[in-house]
Amino acid sequence: MLDLNDYGITMWEADKIASFRKTLLAWYDQEKRDLPWRRTKDPYRIWVSEIMLQQTQVATVIPYYERFLDWFPSIQDLAQAAEEQLLKAWEGLGYYSRVRNMQTAAQQVMEKHGGHFPNTYEDIAALKGIGPYTAGAIASIAFDLPEPAVDGNVMRVMARLFEVDYDIGDPKNRKIFQAITKILIDPKRPGDFNQALMDLGTDIEAAKNPRPEENPVRSFSAAYLHGTMDKYPIKLPKKKPRPVQIQAFIIRNQKGDFLLEKNNKGRLLAGFWTFPLMETDFISQQLNLFENDETAILETQSQKHIFSEDYQLTVNWSDKIFQPVKHTFSHQKWQIELTEGFTTADSLSAEHELCWVPTQDFKRFPMAAPQKKMIETYLKTGL
Ligand code: ADE
Repeated sequence: MLDLNDYGITMWEADKIASFRKTLLAWYDQEKRDLPWRRTKDPYRIWVSEIMLQQTQVATVIPYYERFLDWFPSIQDLAQAAEEQLLKAWEGLGYYSRVRNMQTAAQQVMEKHGGHFPNTYEDIAALKGIGPYTAGAIASIAFDLPEPAVDGNVMRVMARLFEVDYDIGDPKNRKIFQAITKILIDPKRPGDFNQALMDLGTDIEAAKNPRPEENPVRSFSAAYLHGTMDKYPIKLPKKKPRPVQIQAFIIRNQKGDFLLEKNNKGRLLAGFWTFPLMETDFISQQLNLFENDETAILETQSQKHIFSEDYQLTVNWSDKIFQPVKHTFSHQKWQIELTEGFTTADSLSAEHELCWVPTQDFKRFPMAAPQKKMIETYLKTGL
């Protein structure tokens, strides 16, 4: 278990924790919203509500929730649903992978748990599409297990209670907020405790227009008491993905096979096969293009030269022009220029892991999205 002292957080004494639970739950009992999924302990229904509520507001969710359970009243119905009806049930909610994952999870429940929704945190969290937040919500609300359910709203509440100096936007910090909530949670009413935090975080402590004077637990809040409500939670702006310019070399031999390379260096695409790729200096490329077209031509000429040297291949370059391929990873935004060339050589440099592959064998090689996009662009441009 993570030690909160290591993060500069001092946990309260037992009597303060007890008093916090009492105050929060008394407020919840008075003020809680009457929502359809709060009238049931059925884990299936609670699961449906939690998945829908992940990216969608309560008011929008209610009619979708009712209709979904009307169409798929049991886990078995969901497991067997036709794809068309499944997507129809979700139409307008977006993020369709949520409902596809739910169907996969329903099938897992049918196969691994005999159709009964699992009742331990670990088994719930092992289902497709269920992360720590959803697993905690279902475990606490449906099974009264003292598991925290920490999303962005709950992190905001905790950040203010304890003046947590860690960015709530950084996924690796979530464990800090989970550790705090795990200690605070009321073991007698864990589901209500979590839902009270959700209500607090989405209304009185909302990201926009919070109403601190109405906050039932303001006297527990370090940020409220110290006048630092504006500082917490810490939320650093997300870094924009760095633009990276890549040159891809689409080389074919006399049989028409393609030269593929296994990516062994770097973290991106590790283990995946691609056309040989080379990073070009994005900024100098840009400057060249803007300032002097001749330099731009020289630049690609020299890239081709470097390729021939590095891969020990004599290549006849074609002058076919391709649409650049774009792909964004979480930290890098790639723009890939494609260059086509032909070679009569068949021996391959031992410096790289290379293979000649006919198109019909592409499916035997693990290929990530950028490679698939490159193939598509290449084939679309005509052979
Ligand atoms: N948002 C996510 N889960 C919720 C719940 N159970 N009640 C209200 N709002 C929520």
